Amino acid sequence: MRALQFTTYGGPEVLSWAEAPDPHAGPGQIRIAVRAASVNPIDWKRFAGFMAGDQPMVGTGYLGYDAAGVVDEVGDGVDGVSVGDEVLGQGSNTQAEYAVLNSWAAKPASVDWAVAAAAGVAGETAERGLRLLEVTAGDTLFVDGGAGGVGAVVVQTAVALGARVIASASESNHDYLREIGATPVLYGEGVVDRVQAAAGGPVQAVFDVAGKTPVEDLVSLAPAPSKVLTIANFTAGEAGVRVTGGGADSKPMAALADVAELLAQNKLVIKVETYPFDRAAEAYRISQGGHVRGKLVLVP
Ligand SMILES: NC(=O)c1ccc[n+]([C@@H]2O[C@H](COP(=O)([O-])OP(=O)(O)OC[C@H]3O[C@@H](n4cnc5c(N)ncnc54)[C@H](OP(=O)(O)O)[C@@H]3O)[C@@H](O)[C@H]2O)c1
Repeated sequence: MRALQFTTYGGPEVLSWAEAPDPHAGPGQIRIAVRAASVNPIDWKRFAGFMAGDQPMVGTGYLGYDAAGVVDEVGDGVDGVSVGDEVLGQGSNTQAEYAVLNSWAAKPASVDWAVAAAAGVAGETAERGLRLLEVTAGDTLFVDGGAGGVGAVVVQTAVALGARVIASASESNHDYLREIGATPVLYGEGVVDRVQAAAGGPVQAVFDVAGKTPVEDLVSLAPAPSKVLTIANFTAGEAGVRVTGGGADSKPMAALADVAELLAQNKLVIKVETYPFDRAAEAYRISQGGHVRGKLVLVP
């Protein structure tokens, strides 16, 4: 099969769409023939070497943490899914012709492959953060960075829960934020005042998607530091803020089932821009620019 890969750290020019060993489903896993796989910022952080801890590159690196496709292998101990089923989910090395998933949900028939692929990491992260923040109907939530891959899913999932959402983005994304149910504010200096003005009362929780606003500003908006959660500022824990990177915080099967249901009900709409796998470098250049609206998705 072919897979997106790199053998040296660098910019998107290090990527190639080339031959790779076939993966196989181990116990508790499934393998899919990939119809689409999304781009997440962690992918370029990896091929840029940012996750390597100053160690030199060894061997070949593969990319991708989510995908949608057709099941063609079912591992030992897996129930409820069969060869030929259409699924979306999370795994590793998903930017390839075949990929192994560790968690999945049935793809609603009405949902496009690219949208289904985009829902994996973003959907699980949104579910996790909103659950940890205990966001419920009637809460006012501030989402810092509401127009990107994760942010747009957080906004819509919170709206579906019955929360009132204020979200930050650049000016050019304010109409998009209104479209998905949030009150937009501009990020950057003065954001605290703008959120308070938009809220017109207390904010119950803050979901920091972008990791760019000083943590003390986010804490000043919330009733307690524990009602601020970040997925992108890994030093924020010092201020008592909840930092989550997945792992034990995750309930991926339940989260993906919820996200598939929201997609099926049209309560979640993910704006996607697609690129063929052999033009992945173009998609990664856009992702590295840091101003994605919705999700970038790679397709065969
Ligand atoms: N910890 C976890 O479990 C986890 C999971 C998934 C992702 N992440 C991380 O979360 C971050 C976001 O991921 P993503 O997929 O949503 O990225 P993305 O799709 O590239 O979106 C980035 C968004 O950030 C916004 N933004 C840029 N500068 C900002 C600022 N100063 N303040 C507020 N927002 C700003 C942009 O809005 P404009 O376009 O309007 O400028 C854009 O919508 C990445 O660092 C990623 O690695 C962590």
